[in-house]
Amino acid sequence: MIAQNRKKLNLILGITIAAALIAQSFSVQQQQQKKLQNIKVFPATATYEQVDHAMDQFKVDLGVKCNYCHAPEKDNPRKMDMPSDANPKKDIARDMIRMTDEMNKKYIATIKHTESDSTKIQLVTCNTCHRGVPKPFGKAVVPPPPPAPAQKPAGVPGR
Ligand code: HEC
Ligand code: HEC
Repeated sequence: MIAQNRKKLNLILGITIAAALIAQSFSVQQQQQKKLQNIKVFPATATYEQVDHAMDQFKVDLGVKCNYCHAPEKDNPRKMDMPSDANPKKDIARDMIRMTDEMNKKYIATIKHTESDSTKIQLVTCNTCHRGVPKPFGKAVVPPPPPAPAQKPAGVPGR
């Protein structure tokens, strides 16, 4: 009985260890797949997750999908090749990141805030200009009010 139980326990242990090993090799594989390959602007310390998070923000700020800046894979046009620089918008975006960074570091971060100033420091983001469109300033963000209707002067009959 005890021997049988031990056998069972060994089997369960064996299965657990095997499962753990599979899970580990799987996550190592995933990590290898998710290595950044062609980063020129983001800091060298940036993780895949941080870059991915920034990408989601670009999408929202410019009102576009990932393929607006990323090229399709050569062999499989239905997939995207994220490290590729074949889409020229990607390099425009790189300059935009540099520009935004410089604005913040050089001009925004040096603004002195007094203690009574309760406003939170506002950094320039893609959204500051883009507001959900890839080419900003095509039209006014806030459309001008419609012209006031021509009013008849009140109390003047016959007009
Ligand atoms: C506005 C343009 C733009 C959009 C939209 C965009 N990206 Fe990017 N993406 C870039 C730029 C620029 C880089 C390179 C950054 C650098 O060089 O530091 C990049 C890099 C990446 C990388 C790193 C590739 C590598 O290994 O070198 C991944 C992954 C990525 N983007 C995924 C996405 C995903 C997923 C989306 C959609 C949610 C997306 N991107 C949307 C501009 C964009
Ligand atoms: C100070 C304002 C400003 C900021 C901040 C800004 N952009 Fe731009 N961006 C522009 C303007 C203006 C254009 C259009 C220039 C043109 O086409 O002549 C543009 C164009 C672009 C384009 C090319 C669009 C196209 O279809 O040709 C991309 C991509 C882009 N910006 C990405 C970004 C990203 C990503 C960020 C944030 C990291 C950003 N921009 C921040 C003003 C800004």
